Formats: sequence, structure tokens, C-alpha cells
Amino acid sequence: MDKTSNPVGVFDSGIGGISTLRDIIRELPRVHLIYYGDIANAPYGTKSTEEVIACVRKVVDHRLEKQIKALVIACNTATGAAAATLRKELSIPVIGMEPALKPASEKREDGIILVMATPLTLQMEKFNLLMSKYGEGAVRVPCPGLMELVEADDGEGALNYLKALFVQYDLDKVDAVVLGCTHYVFLKDMIRDLLPDHIAITDGNAGTARQLKRVLAQNGLLNETGEGKLEFETSGTKKDLALMQKLISHF
Ligand code: DGL
Repeated sequence: MDKTSNPVGVFDSGIGGISTLRDIIRELPRVHLIYYGDIANAPYGTKSTEEVIACVRKVVDHRLEKQIKALVIACNTATGAAAATLRKELSIPVIGMEPALKPASEKREDGIILVMATPLTLQMEKFNLLMSKYGEGAVRVPCPGLMELVEADDGEGALNYLKALFVQYDLDKVDAVVLGCTHYVFLKDMIRDLLPDHIAITDGNAGTARQLKRVLAQNGLLNETGEGKLEFETSGTKKDLALMQKLISHF
């Protein structure tokens, strides 16, 4: 059966992965995307690995009912916790994401790299492996509570959080900051304004979108025709759904 016109499922614990959608649409303008924000179960980043796997399983069961041709985990935390398990269990391609430490390491002179991510992402084995490859000069910066401020669209709260965070570092000695959680990409402009110009800021969104395109092509799943379509679903409220729809029009 030709599956090329089937949708691609994209999910995150909340609205964070909407920042990834923008890059996916740029790479694949004809694709049909169904985005799911697991807002009722957010945040993932302060849960245990087992708890996140349980949340992800539920999300994925619903996605499979939609006959998706591939699954994008637009969440660093859920990727670290559940991608390996999902790849063993599912017959469709699973595309995950990890903190963009490799591109940050390429920008490093001899200073430090601040890796902002959820507590769970930074304590998982997958991240230890990444650190062993590209982590010279990298410092783990867990940001509990920051995704909640993004979800609540609390700009002032986020600004205060970030100021209190960056004041702890000698920014002259920082070469790069990694936005290792898709929620933080919504704060990129604010973070840019708070940091000196020499500091590079990296995130995994563009790389994830390119990887999705590559994997679809390798599996004969690229659709060359079609208009492109985007649907939103959530375990949260109607208000959450309206916020998700509003956010995408920001891009
Ligand atoms: N957006 C998610 C990530 O990329 C995590 C947010 C959370 O649920 O804690 O890690």
C-alpha cells in the first residue's frame, strides 16, 4: 500500500515541539502533520524515565490509529527516555532529537558551553554519551520550571528566571548556549538579548527536520504532491488547543 500521503505524527509534552514544526514545514511543505501536545501530563522533564515512557506509550497508541507513516519526537526529554524503546516496538521510522551539543562544540573556542535542558534529559545515559563525544567544556544547566513558564506564556516570569540563571556564570567565558528543550526555543530572542553577541545559541530543530526528510526519502515515504496540512491535538483543554493553533501562526 502506498503510504506516502499518510500523515507524520509529531509530539511533545506541550507546546515546545511547535517550534520544531516550523522547520519541518520549511523542509517538507507538502507533508500532512498531526501535532500532539501531551499537556495534561506535562512536564515530562521532572518525571522519572519510567513515567515518561508510560506517557509516551499512550500518546503513540493514539498516533498509530491515525495511520502515521513516521513519528517525530519533538522533545529532547521524551527522546532520551523512550526513543530506543519505541524503535524496537514500532514498524514506522521514529525520529528523535537531542540537545544540539555537537554544533555548539564546533563554535567553541576555549570557553564553556552551557547546556540548558530538563533535569531528566541531563541525567540520562543518552546525554552522558553525547557529553563523552562533544562535551569538552560543556556544563549541564538543568532548568526545572522553565517549560512551565513557556506553557503559561509568562514572559516576565521567563525573563526573571533567565536573568537569575545567567548571572551565575561569567558570560565572557561562555562560547555557546544549547537550547536542549524545544520549549526554550520560544525564548530564543529573549535569551539572545540577555547574552553578549559572541555567544552562539544552538537548538536541534533544523537538524531534526532535515533528518525527518532524509529518513522519509530513505524509506520511500516522501510525498511529492499534496498541499501540506497541519492538525493539532492535545490531552489538554480546548484553551490549550487554541493556544497551540495561535502559536504556529507566530512563525
Ligand atoms: N519540550 C521538552 C523537551 O524538549 C520537555 C519539556 C518537559 O515536558 O519538561 O525536552
